Amino acid sequence: MSSTSTINYLSQSSSSVLSLHLFLYFLVFVSVFAFLLAPGGLAWALSKPRPKTAIPGPSGFPFLGLVFAFASSLTHRTLAKLSTTFNAKPLMAFSVGMTRFVISSHPETAKEILNSSAFADRPVKESAYELLFHRAMGFAPYGEYWRNLRRISATHLFSPKRVAGFGVFRQEIGLKMVEQVSSSMEANEGVEVKRILHFASLNNVMMSVFGRSYDDFGENGGGGDGYELEKLVSEGYELLGTFNWSDHFPIVSWFDFQGVRRRCRDLVSKVNVFVGEIIEQHRESRSGNRGGAMAVSGGDFVDVLLDLESENKFSDADMIAVLWINSHIRSNAIRDPFELPTNPLRYQIGPKEMIFRGTDTVAILLEWILARMVLHPDIQAKAQSEIESVVGRDRPVTHSDVANLPYLHAIVKETLRVHPPGPLLSWARLAIHDTQVGAHLVPAGTTAMVNMWAITHDEHIWAEPNRFNPDRFLTEDVAIMGSDLRLAPFGAGRRVCPGKAMGLETFIFG
Ligand code: HEM
Repeated sequence: MSSTSTINYLSQSSSSVLSLHLFLYFLVFVSVFAFLLAPGGLAWALSKPRPKTAIPGPSGFPFLGLVFAFASSLTHRTLAKLSTTFNAKPLMAFSVGMTRFVISSHPETAKEILNSSAFADRPVKESAYELLFHRAMGFAPYGEYWRNLRRISATHLFSPKRVAGFGVFRQEIGLKMVEQVSSSMEANEGVEVKRILHFASLNNVMMSVFGRSYDDFGENGGGGDGYELEKLVSEGYELLGTFNWSDHFPIVSWFDFQGVRRRCRDLVSKVNVFVGEIIEQHRESRSGNRGGAMAVSGGDFVDVLLDLESENKFSDADMIAVLWINSHIRSNAIRDPFELPTNPLRYQIGPKEMIFRGTDTVAILLEWILARMVLHPDIQAKAQSEIESVVGRDRPVTHSDVANLPYLHAIVKETLRVHPPGPLLSWARLAIHDTQVGAHLVPAGTTAMVNMWAITHDEHIWAEPNRFNPDRFLTEDVAIMGSDLRLAPFGAGRRVCPGKAMGLETFIFG
């Protein structure tokens, strides 16, 4: 072969090697993109087992998925729009980093998810875990431990007898709120309703759980117990509500670059001191009262726990269990974070959890009810005349009047429909094992959500969904406690809100 032909041959073969390389690069590039842009995004592309028919849904940004939908407070609206765009109201798949999600925006699949034992767990975010909520009722894994928590709180905190028994306090808190609003109006010609409602709601929960209420929330620059409590609760809400990258990107979780872990640990030690003192005071006042157990309707929830302690004649170690909730849990949690106690007194029935869970939801709803009454004077007048005809003008509304005020109930229902306090039902569910939703396979470990806001604003389900019209509930009686998924602001199934009756009573008095 001449030197020229050798050169030609080499350049031809190197260019074919080059084009083969280019072709391979192209293939890798296309398949990576096809992978990243798979329906539902990266976490779904990596899922095992892979559903035979892909659940429709947006792929979102490569690697990130729908992170940005969760960065705003209007996530429910973004997800509702996407489920319409992708024709995926019954079930939509999406990813946030490495977390696989499904979301239902339809009553039928919502019912399937919420009522299924396959979805009876909750995903535990890092903040919830650090705040020790994984041992509390709201996040505890489905099983014996969680069942006992529900049983004890159903009997001693949320039973109709106890809810009715605390009616007197609710009435007092309601009257005080009215007083605060009018004195603030006189003094400042305006009132920050949100603040008053938040404190009233906090006092309501504090009264039923800890048997105390607070006057000093620092409005006058004071720094008393009420002020301290308010600071703790606000910090807790902020931490639980923060979008934490560590929850969805395993590598990022090593660094705690948002400081969530550090702040949670600081908060837990402060809350432990605060709650520990209250429990200690209960013990002291009971030791003065040799009669021992307090009547259920007379005592608060701490008393109930202490009654359970004495009834069961526990060992010394058990006798400090209630305090352990606060002071000993940290060291145990570090030793074995998943070990759950077997002694009921060691359960995290969670005074802390009740404060967090019960305060904001109630305050938000009351604020919406008031806002709606301002926006619709005709509806306000109708409610006023119902109260006057049933109760009169000379006395406040009492617990026994509530059943005779259908229009007031309709207003509460309509507000829950238009402004559900947890538009995505706040706390999601986690698939314990592979399961079916409709025609789709949902693998174990998938986080499942219900977009209650999308359901309550769907024109195929509700006539004129954007119009605030309580009358719709006078003509059609829609159950709101979880049996009818067209309006289930308290969730449904095994993990339905246990505080729903207490919450409803509070709105009426608010
Ligand atoms: C406007 C009032 C309230 C609303 C809208 C509300 C809503 C909810 C929702 C949607 C859930 C999740 C249900 C599910 O997964 O199916 C829930 C759970 C829960 N709620 Fe409520 N809630 C309210 C008031 C309260 C109150 C007053 C308390 C306690 C004092 C409370 C304590 C809890 C607890 C402990 C859970 C977790 C239950 C579990 O996982 O087993 N809630 N709530």
